[in-house]
Amino acid sequence: MTQAVSNSAARRDIEFHLHSQTNPGQFEARGPLMVARGEGIRIFDSAGKSYIDAMAGLWCASLGFNNKRLADAATRQYGELGFYHTFFQRTHAPAADLAEKLVQLTGMTGGKAYFATSGSEANETMVKLAWVYHTVHGKPTKRKVIARDRSFHGSTIAAASMCGLEFMHREFGLPLPGFLHTLCPWPYRGMLEGEDEAAFVERLASELEKLILREGPDTIAAFIAEPIHAGGGIIVPPQKYFARIQEVLAKYDILCLADEIVCGFARTGNWFGKETVGMKPDMMSLAKGLSSSYFPISAVVFAPKIYEAVARFNKEGGAFGHGFTNSGHPVGVAVALEAIKIYEEMDVVAHVRKMGARLRGKFEAMAEKSPIVGEVRGAGLMLGIEIVADKKTRKPFAPALQAGPTFDSIAYENGLVARCMGDVLGFSPPLIVTESDVDEIAHLCEISLSALEKHLAKH
Ligand SMILES: Cc1ncc(COP(=O)(O)O)c(C=O)c1O
Repeated sequence: MTQAVSNSAARRDIEFHLHSQTNPGQFEARGPLMVARGEGIRIFDSAGKSYIDAMAGLWCASLGFNNKRLADAATRQYGELGFYHTFFQRTHAPAADLAEKLVQLTGMTGGKAYFATSGSEANETMVKLAWVYHTVHGKPTKRKVIARDRSFHGSTIAAASMCGLEFMHREFGLPLPGFLHTLCPWPYRGMLEGEDEAAFVERLASELEKLILREGPDTIAAFIAEPIHAGGGIIVPPQKYFARIQEVLAKYDILCLADEIVCGFARTGNWFGKETVGMKPDMMSLAKGLSSSYFPISAVVFAPKIYEAVARFNKEGGAFGHGFTNSGHPVGVAVALEAIKIYEEMDVVAHVRKMGARLRGKFEAMAEKSPIVGEVRGAGLMLGIEIVADKKTRKPFAPALQAGPTFDSIAYENGLVARCMGDVLGFSPPLIVTESDVDEIAHLCEISLSALEKHLAKH
């Protein structure tokens, strides 16, 4: 990365720009990775070096980094109507088209879609809708939200409070009161000795129920979950997990919110992650793949009963007191419509299943040979490799070894962008990957992994 520092844009960036999820001191010392351009699944730095971005940026650029059809859709829409809002009964045809399409695609029959601009806003919108719902049903004390350990739901204050990751809380005195966390359904690390999957699921459900009873069922509004944990380490719950958890939620009249911001739009090998894990949410938040992140757009799609609550609350007058300037931005919705059209034309679900199975097969073959791969897991094109000091006992590497970050640095050198989450190496490539792209990702991963093994053997 240091090559970029001599570039004056890099120097100005160090001087003027505060970066997300970046250590300030380390950034000042090492400087930025200047990304100059993209081509398909590849990015190029300012020195012209190319990398396969096997994380699709931040799990989002599903159609790669320079899709012409998305650019053309944006240009066409800028030429027609470059901005208009959706407050005060305003709308435009692309917003209506996208709302209809999302309700159909998600199977939220009779429900509606609401637009925002980021995943965090979409998740916070779901919380506010849950509050309206319970208020209208005579239970205004139902305010608290239960999330899970290791979950990621965004960076605004309530969204960050819902995260189950310490690094999202430590500087800010979060979570806010009323945002609670229950156990993460992580079979590899969470199952007790002698416990089978059924007993594990039972224990998770029972812990959730205990939390609800401790807090008081009349105080809990909603439960929020990513179908598959993304940033928390690509954690796939046991198959029966959501069915059992939803029995508990139904018993105490708690709404189920799916954060589909990463899993949505075929990432896991189904249109939505809820299908992959058997989740039946009352509301879903969508972003990232919705527009392949070519425009900051997000959405919430919800069941009819949620809309009925909003309508009933405002029956005597008043307006739904929520909204963002760029909710339903015409260019954002036009880009999202085009992205969905492309997904349909390429039969994205079948393609992801095929490419995902190929990549997973290669990772599994790698795991057999590698002394440090503890587990390969995930679904579709959302795969994780957990590296461990001891495969038999699953003993993790000492944190001081920085095994995961070292893999990332080696992979960068080899022209591969992956992303470690602790010692879980994440892969979430653009969904347009071909067989030869998958083979190249697997090859670059394998040589990076064996370089890491050699490095660790010296320490
Ligand atoms: C699962 C999940 N939810 C929510 C978000 C927040 O989205 P945004 O950064 O657009 O606010 C993210 C971002 O990575 C995410 O991974």
